[in-house]
Amino acid sequence: MSTDVVILLLVVDVCLGSSFEGKVIGGQYATIKNFPHVAFLKINLDNDVCICGSSVLNQLLLVSAAHCFELINEHTNIGLYAGHHDIFQVKLVRPVKAVYRHKYYDSKNVVNDIALVKLKRALPLGEFIKRVILRPSSLKQDGILAGWGATNSQMSEFDFKLKSVPQKLRSKDACSRIGTMHKGMICAGSFNSNHSRPSKGDSGSGLISKDYQIIGIVSYLVTSFPAIIVYTNVSHYYSWIHEKAEKILCPID
Ligand SMILES: *[C@@H]1O[C@H](CO)[C@@H](O)[C@H](O)[C@H]1NC(C)=O
Ligand SMILES: *[C@@H]1O[C@H](CO)[C@@H](O)[C@H](O)[C@H]1NC(C)=O
Repeated sequence: MSTDVVILLLVVDVCLGSSFEGKVIGGQYATIKNFPHVAFLKINLDNDVCICGSSVLNQLLLVSAAHCFELINEHTNIGLYAGHHDIFQVKLVRPVKAVYRHKYYDSKNVVNDIALVKLKRALPLGEFIKRVILRPSSLKQDGILAGWGATNSQMSEFDFKLKSVPQKLRSKDACSRIGTMHKGMICAGSFNSNHSRPSKGDSGSGLISKDYQIIGIVSYLVTSFPAIIVYTNVSHYYSWIHEKAEKILCPID
């Protein structure tokens, strides 16, 4: 990965081997009722706590970014917080049982940046926790991203409240201005760096359409275009998600 690529990752402190980040700068405060698919992951590393977003697929499975889990091992304690837009008021906490990163996740080029997260106990679905819709293809419609990232451009302030920002999907040609778009990547946002954008802590969060189809997962940005976000194209991984989910939920052995 070139030095100006910033993984929009998460991070209360430094969570990755390199300087990653991720969170909505600007944007608007959001309520969980409008974004009931979002859940917050707290990854307790030995010396750091990382945060990432994720989206509810069903009561036991969520989808997030593979890069969120680069530093974990089998002893890492990960907690999932759902059902409230203010992290300090979340009452629904679930321990994570296992994380399944894409087998061909390439951390160098941030390719196949997708992972499934399995909980130890089921989430109750309802008004404040709902599933996203998965489809094998997506209409060319703009999306909206909700996440708990940083709130100023220095990425130093966290206020632990959910924010949302609309994201305009960009064409392949436009996206190629920021670098190589591998298969499975899409980009969205603004070429005007003054515009609202995701930032620290938003890694792994879902870009959704108006009808709650998940379109993308926050992956990374490049510093020269800080308001354009590269997302994992979720439809591209539709079969992977289904096959993996089936194996995880109904292991045959
Ligand atoms: C961004 O904001 C700065 C400061 O307000 C302004 O000088 C600059 O022209 C803006 N850039 C664009 C592309 O709008
Ligand atoms: C995302 O992947 C799906 C399935 O391969 C494809 O139909 C769609 O065009 C892709 N989206 C973009 C913006 O390239």
